[in-house]
Amino acid sequence: MQFDKPIALAADHGGYELKEAIKAHLDELGVAYEDFGTDSTASVDYPDYAVVGCKAVQDGRCALVILCCGTGVGMSMCANKMQGIRACCCSDTFSAELTRRHNNANALCLGGRVVGAGLACKIVDAFLNAEFEGGRHQTRIDKMMALQNQ
Ligand code: RB5
Repeated sequence: MQFDKPIALAADHGGYELKEAIKAHLDELGVAYEDFGTDSTASVDYPDYAVVGCKAVQDGRCALVILCCGTGVGMSMCANKMQGIRACCCSDTFSAELTRRHNNANALCLGGRVVGAGLACKIVDAFLNAEFEGGRHQTRIDKMMALQNQ
């Protein structure tokens, strides 16, 4: 996997430990990242961290964002409300790969209370290694993104 920009990482307290495990994994892979917090298991509000992570993608500062909370669900709900963000909450590698190939997802959401660090790192690999296929999928994404105006 080769990216010209870093991967954004953000988590709430429920995803903090998983975020740290993913950072160690990305270090091993030599993949650059930017950590937008949180920095401990002290209770915080996941929307605040979804916003900072997604803004880094919206601004073009980061290539993709990985968001961790307890379930990954709250992060994905927030991320999918942000302009231009296509987030997928994944607990399996197949969905993580296909959401890049078909949905051109730019946000991966993971649940620190759902998946262990080992599986989460495999999910991250599947997400980062896959490439958008374009073609008929772009037509569908154009329709999807038009929903933001409804
Ligand atoms: C925090 O307790 C928890 O609600 C949050 O991490 C996440 O699971 C929300 O979807």
